[in-house]
Amino acid sequence: MDKVVSLCKRRGFVFQGSEIYGGLAGVFDFGPMGVELLNNLKRSWWKANVYDKENYYGLDSGMFKHPRVWDASGHTSGFSDPLSECRECNTRIRVDKELGKIGIEADEKMSEEEINKLFDENRDKIVCPKCGQKNFTSVKAFNLLIKSNLGDFTGEGSEPVYLPGEACQGIYLDYKNIVDSMSPKLPFGIVQIGKAFRNEISPRNFLFRTRELEQADTQLFVKPNQNKEAYEQVKQDRLNWYLSIGIKPENLRWKQHANLVFYASDAWDIEYNFPGLGFDELEGIHDRTNYDLTQHMEFSGADLRYTDPETGEKYIPWILETSVGMGRMFLAVISDAYHEEEMDGSTRVVLKLHKDLAPYRVAVSPLLKNKPELVEKAREVFKLLKKEFGNVAWDDNGNIGKRYRRQDEIGTPACIVIDFETLGQEKPELKDTVTVRDRDTGEQIRVAIADLISHLK
Ligand code: GAP
Repeated sequence: MDKVVSLCKRRGFVFQGSEIYGGLAGVFDFGPMGVELLNNLKRSWWKANVYDKENYYGLDSGMFKHPRVWDASGHTSGFSDPLSECRECNTRIRVDKELGKIGIEADEKMSEEEINKLFDENRDKIVCPKCGQKNFTSVKAFNLLIKSNLGDFTGEGSEPVYLPGEACQGIYLDYKNIVDSMSPKLPFGIVQIGKAFRNEISPRNFLFRTRELEQADTQLFVKPNQNKEAYEQVKQDRLNWYLSIGIKPENLRWKQHANLVFYASDAWDIEYNFPGLGFDELEGIHDRTNYDLTQHMEFSGADLRYTDPETGEKYIPWILETSVGMGRMFLAVISDAYHEEEMDGSTRVVLKLHKDLAPYRVAVSPLLKNKPELVEKAREVFKLLKKEFGNVAWDDNGNIGKRYRRQDEIGTPACIVIDFETLGQEKPELKDTVTVRDRDTGEQIRVAIADLISHLK
């Protein structure tokens, strides 16, 4: 994990939030290379979940929501993690995670009583990560919602307006608008990538557990009790997508939830083998029954029943959800792509990213930057490729070996070098050809500039 974190900073993928002020725990910034990889991931995910499907609709809902929303969803009363505080140094620990580290199954869905019992039985084995003492308070449920002061200005009373605890609530709130405006037939899906905020007790492990996150969600609305077969298909589609973007199959596995939230009828996680953490949750796939729409119907008074266009029957659809944090997805993809290997007599770090995900599609270099005739020709090629591929790197920093190693670390699939042969100065038959170097094999071939675009494609 340390190597991935270091590469992310060194090459402009991810920075600690507010770093010059000493950092803000659980918040990260995506730098110039990171935002490209993140956007490419979002594009690929959106294509798979909207364009490649039928009857799936995109949405971008507002972040702030009416205070009642979080009562209806159960977040104001039940969205909490089990917290205990060290009496010696005030460090807060997430008790289910600390119990997990010593091999005891526990999670945030347990009641205060259940988890306190487990904690008391194992107190002698849990030490404070800061001061090493074992003097903890009893376990309390710590609500993860983060309040804003928006209500103070809208005159809607003193009730807090929360930042979204999960992005999917926006989908349930706009379900009726989408039914009314798009007239979709069941089964249909609503898809959104949206921000969520959680007052995580101990944000850690880089992008794995953060306080500000983005969730890519799909919600499939199905006829009541027609969930089982659709659920299997949804699960399979999501696993296949990870394989399609090049994640190694041996780093993915399924885990079924043993302890379901009371309304869910089934829940599985796709786990990824994160470096330094081992297998842990990457994405959740949940059969949420008709809980969400039933709750919002009750709390809002709006009729959220679906009218069957064939029979006229009215019912509340069931919802199958897939939800993945973009940060966790990013971490899995970059960790999976990270390789250290011997090449040309030294060790190189290379990101073997899927070509559609790489921040730069290709890099262009003049062999020597102090030869104007090489630079001029290289800029011509650069402009040509930029027009075609958009994100193309111009790299004339350091010698050519260093440039290759830098582009390897960024994951650029191909590097183009313009040299004296391109100018026809050494071998006239090679005039207007360039060197194309492949990231994964290091192999170099000569390609005519006229064929370069189709070759790269
Ligand atoms: N709407 C369902 C929902 O929010 P969740 O299991 O709490 O379910 C779904 O979150 C996904 O969001 C997780 O599988 C994970 O990828 C991501 N996620 C949740 N909390 C996170 C956090 N604190 N930091 C980063 N990602 C997180």
